Amino acid sequence: MRYNIAPLYCRPWTLNGITPRLIESHYENDYGSALNRLNAIAEEIEALDPATAPARAISRLKRDEAAALNSTLLHELYFASLGGDGRALPEEMAGAIARDFGSVQRWRQEFIALAEALAGGSGWVLLTYVPRDGRLVNQSAEDHSQSISGGIPILAIDMYEHAYHLDFGANATAYVAAFMRNIDWAAVQSRYRNAVKVEPPPKLVQRQWPELPAMTVEEVKAMLDAGQPIQIIDTRPRHYTTRAQDIMEGAVWRDPERVDEWIGEISKTEPVVTFCVYGFHIGCETAETLRKAGFDARCMAGGHYAWKAKKGAVKLFE
Ligand SMILES: [Fe+2]
Repeated sequence: MRYNIAPLYCRPWTLNGITPRLIESHYENDYGSALNRLNAIAEEIEALDPATAPARAISRLKRDEAAALNSTLLHELYFASLGGDGRALPEEMAGAIARDFGSVQRWRQEFIALAEALAGGSGWVLLTYVPRDGRLVNQSAEDHSQSISGGIPILAIDMYEHAYHLDFGANATAYVAAFMRNIDWAAVQSRYRNAVKVEPPPKLVQRQWPELPAMTVEEVKAMLDAGQPIQIIDTRPRHYTTRAQDIMEGAVWRDPERVDEWIGEISKTEPVVTFCVYGFHIGCETAETLRKAGFDARCMAGGHYAWKAKKGAVKLFE
């Protein structure tokens, strides 16, 4: 495939303290080169026969392609980030930034610090929306190679020297300040609105127990930390626990095949949380059995390993 050039999104003569000469040179020489390089690489890849070409040659071309594609996309985002007055954030955008950074001021300070840290080097600072958590993050990306997987950049500052040298020499601080004065927040907000329409990755669904309430390890930990009453039962199968070396601190192990024998030991007035190895089956089944018997039981999503991955406390299992 061939990539087409995108027209310059911002109007260079409207920018405040950034000259049309700089934008023209940047657009023509750097953005243009990235796009042409991208197309040349795409052509080389198409001409290759993957059945006979050395794997290393294919791999190198694909790496070069990713760098050229990222450079192209980020330059387009950069030019589309400019052309506003920088200070006035539309309400929705200001609200989203305040939600995820504490305040617009704090966001601004972090963004500028990341950009200034790249002075004399090369790279990008991006404001990126992450659908998984529904939140915005600032990202510093050296060269064109790093990106947040699944993230959608909505604002970019180019910190390659070619982005400022013509107007600002080595004075990256003045360039960053000029960039901030020219952010087109209305355009950022329209990209944000598109970004939030992207669904997060599908969540794990326990189809067998669609009604069973689950708790996250974070919720269980918060209850324990707060000293709230909670009965935690490790129901990893016996054949598994004979090999297990640790158990969640605060949990007791009970054989899931002998619920009848231990159900009388637990209290109906305090909530019960059960879990197994990974949270798929036995923990849920046991929670379901307990609920049917009138207990306030739920399972812990992710089981023993989610607890350990969260660095929850464990003790020796004897
Ligand atoms: Fe650039």
